Amino acid sequence: MIVCVCNNISDREIRQAADFGLTSFDELQRELGVATCCGQCRECACQVLEAHVASLPEAA
Ligand code: FES
Repeated sequence: MIVCVCNNISDREIRQAADFGLTSFDELQRELGVATCCGQCRECACQVLEAHVASLPEAA
């Protein structure tokens, strides 16, 4: 599923970024550029990120 249409960023890419250690929306925005155009996707991107981070095992 595409979360950010403006920048063509999928939920999969957001989860992948979380797997690589991103935990906040600010980091996600900086790294992927999500929600840097119209901003419509911001809430959805946050939800995808938060849900995935919550499902990850505690970082060592
Ligand atoms: S849909 Fe993400 S910035 Fe427009």
